[in-house]
Amino acid sequence: MITLQNVNVTFKHKTSELAAVKDVSLHIAKGEIFGIVGGSGAGKSTLVRTLNGLQKPTSGEVIIDGEDITKLKSSGIREVRKKIGMIFQHFNLISRKTVGKNIEFALKVQNYPKDKRDERVKALLALVGLEDKKDVYPASLSGGQKQRVGIARALAANPKILLCDEATSALDVHTTEEIVDILKDINRKLGITIVFITHQLEVAKELFHKVAVMSDGKIIEINEAYEIFANPKDAVTKNLVKSNVTIPSQIIKDTKGKILTLTYKGEKSIEPVIAYTNKKYNVVLNILHGKIEYIQYKPIGTLVVSIEGSEEQVSEALLYLKANVEEIEVLEDKEREAV
Ligand SMILES: Nc1ncnc2c1ncn2[C@@H]1O[C@H](COP(=O)(O)OP(=O)(O)OP(=O)(O)O)[C@@H](O)[C@H]1O
Ligand SMILES: [Mg+2]
Repeated sequence: MITLQNVNVTFKHKTSELAAVKDVSLHIAKGEIFGIVGGSGAGKSTLVRTLNGLQKPTSGEVIIDGEDITKLKSSGIREVRKKIGMIFQHFNLISRKTVGKNIEFALKVQNYPKDKRDERVKALLALVGLEDKKDVYPASLSGGQKQRVGIARALAANPKILLCDEATSALDVHTTEEIVDILKDINRKLGITIVFITHQLEVAKELFHKVAVMSDGKIIEINEAYEIFANPKDAVTKNLVKSNVTIPSQIIKDTKGKILTLTYKGEKSIEPVIAYTNKKYNVVLNILHGKIEYIQYKPIGTLVVSIEGSEEQVSEALLYLKANVEEIEVLEDKEREAV
């Protein structure tokens, strides 16, 4: 559905240049939910804006549904935009129009047949569970309801692609989950391809099939969502997905020995590995904390343990553990002193 080939975006100012997107190439399959994560200023929004022609690349190809849109004139771009809906962090609804009129306006802009608009507005409101809000104004809606209207409006003319730039970032945890569920549902029902930028890792875990990690304009890692979280390769990715298990400070103070966080593929039990380590290396591994979470229906386990023994035994045990789990993170002394 989407192919980027060596895309660069450089902003030129009077005296300086800023390369916001650097040599990005990627494929996004039809029906995929593709996530882009990365720090502020990494170039995520700029990259996504090249997909609907809001941002023209300085060089490279942007192929949407078989067509290189960088070669199109503005009338051609307008046609391509009909295939692409977009939702935003701050919803961007028209405040002086009712919910129904907001959606109808999108249909009008896209030359949707006039006599079919009413029916289409109703169907769209039903799709996002807002049948009863057609005649109210955006000001009287909650954030989650506003974003539902945003989704309905973006889907007005049956686009093939939905772009979402931090679409859940202004919402609380519960409302975010609601919106994520709606997006999953429409992805399943309509087979629409979704490109979603977020800094909310919970959203990435729950929603994305595939993830691209951006840093300083480049895509530094791209993989299935599960692999990004279970087995991150690049240091930036590791730092981004680092287990967010917080160990109570009292436990950190009271624990002798090193504290390790082990990440493992949750479908295998970790117990035999722990038991074997204790026995073979004559160390004492104590479990301090553990959890299993699911990414794309596959489990990832996180286990916090302490390890005690002679220096040599501990370092040999660590080698064995490294070979038998996905990731090991050792809590550094300076982090412990800071507790
Ligand atoms: N129109 C523009 N003119 C000049 N520089 C720009 C323009 N748009 C973006 N930039 C710069 O390009 C870089 C990438 O910006 P971009 O908005 O794509 O980052 P981002 O990853 O979306 O960040 P955030 O997470 O904060 O939204 C930044 O340094 C930004 O200042
Ligand atoms: Mg942005």
